[in-house]
Amino acid sequence: MTNILVVTSSLRGAEGLSTRFATEIAEGLKARSGGMLTTRDLSTTPLPHITPAYTEGRMVPLDIRTPEEQQAVALAETLVQEIRAADVIVIGSGMINFSLSSQLKAWIDHIVWPGVTFAYGEAGANGLLTGKKTYLVTASGGVFSEGAYAPLDFQTNYLVRLLGFIGLTDVETFRIEGTAYGPDAANAAIAAAEAQIRSAIERAA
Ligand SMILES: Cc1cc2nc3c(=O)[nH]c(=O)nc-3n(C[C@H](O)[C@H](O)[C@H](O)COP(=O)(O)O)c2cc1C
Repeated sequence: MTNILVVTSSLRGAEGLSTRFATEIAEGLKARSGGMLTTRDLSTTPLPHITPAYTEGRMVPLDIRTPEEQQAVALAETLVQEIRAADVIVIGSGMINFSLSSQLKAWIDHIVWPGVTFAYGEAGANGLLTGKKTYLVTASGGVFSEGAYAPLDFQTNYLVRLLGFIGLTDVETFRIEGTAYGPDAANAAIAAAEAQIRSAIERAA
């Protein structure tokens, strides 16, 4: 059975295109594989920013952590465990000021953890979350896959590289972009995403 983790983060909750299409992929894969679906909705249940309670607490053994450190590290452990337990991860991200939402960034700040999700070796860093497939849905008002704004894409490019750093190297991306360029452009972007998602779900079987 396939374990699927879907991580959503649109400010607009279920109305957000990234959440809508990430959910569609996750549910389509689940229907196809009969898998288990775990949802981490960062919009309805936002994470705190990381603090020294986490960054210092994770450096010391459990028995000498303060109660605040124990709580902060336990939260990060829960998030990492959700990824470890997943065979497939689906992430939805809506662009905010050329980058990702602070909700999604807070999730990343909890899961990028030296010695746990990546480790330094003689040749540099190795990602430890290997052997998983990731589907990444990004939504943006402008177009960033090509053209004048491509150098300003600090969302999709960042996420693909960041995920690779922790071992999630098999990433299939779905860009819903140009939705601010009028209704025709928005409808075309949505139709293209629908078609790409249908094809991905069929291939995943
Ligand atoms: C506060 C805010 C900032 C945004 N910044 C950008 C931006 O820098 N570039 C862009 O192309 N779109 C930007 N947008 C548009 C969103 O990326 C777009 O509406 C996208 O669909 C949001 O994802 P969602 O539908 O999953 O919520 C912004 C929207 C908001 C609300």
